[in-house]
Amino acid sequence: MALFVIGDTHLSLGSNKPMDVFGGGWEGYVDKLREGFRAVGPEDTVVLCGDLSWGMSLEEARADFAFLDALPGGRKLLLKGNHDYWWNTAAKMNRFFGEHGFSTLHILHNNCYDYGDYALCGTRGWFYEEKGDQKVFNRELIRLEASLKAAGERKKLCFLHYPPLYQGYTCPEILALLEEYGVEACYYGHLHGGSHRLAVEGRYGPVSYHLAAADYLQFRPQKIME
Ligand SMILES: [Fe+2]
Ligand SMILES: [Fe+2]
Repeated sequence: MALFVIGDTHLSLGSNKPMDVFGGGWEGYVDKLREGFRAVGPEDTVVLCGDLSWGMSLEEARADFAFLDALPGGRKLLLKGNHDYWWNTAAKMNRFFGEHGFSTLHILHNNCYDYGDYALCGTRGWFYEEKGDQKVFNRELIRLEASLKAAGERKKLCFLHYPPLYQGYTCPEILALLEEYGVEACYYGHLHGGSHRLAVEGRYGPVSYHLAAADYLQFRPQKIME
């Protein structure tokens, strides 16, 4: 049994926005993902840190969910990214997955999942790109705290789409919640190409931070623990 993380698969199998054209390692990214997932076993859990599909609706993202569901890994936990326009209420997403037999896909949103002694928490997060929308920001803080609270006294890992810190930028409210709830490590996505060099990798205060965007990981899910 092992735990993996990868974000930003940016799939477009049922819509028409393939990432191959962007270069920077994205050529053939669907095949690279398939290859990268060969390290994942049937009992393993993979957390998918948002920006998963370009589909504008659940239906338009269906081929991408089918691709993700068919990849190795008995359990994939899906987080929302800023490009996941197909995102819906948990009830609708779970019903859609159930109807199509996508049995490995689960939504990480206002909740948490067990992994051994750990609780896997997470939400989309917030980034200064969102130009100070206080309502969205407050809602994300509430969601993050709901997820961390759901974990109770268990050891915690936290998964976000947006980086809570960046070279020259921190989001103090999010860092404070991670520290207050004793999160050991935080994994995030969203940063691509030239932005990789601005990522914070490693310890900052009591929490260690790791970028898990697919192009940063060469499309190979990163193993967090056995
Ligand atoms: Fe992304
Ligand atoms: Fe993103």
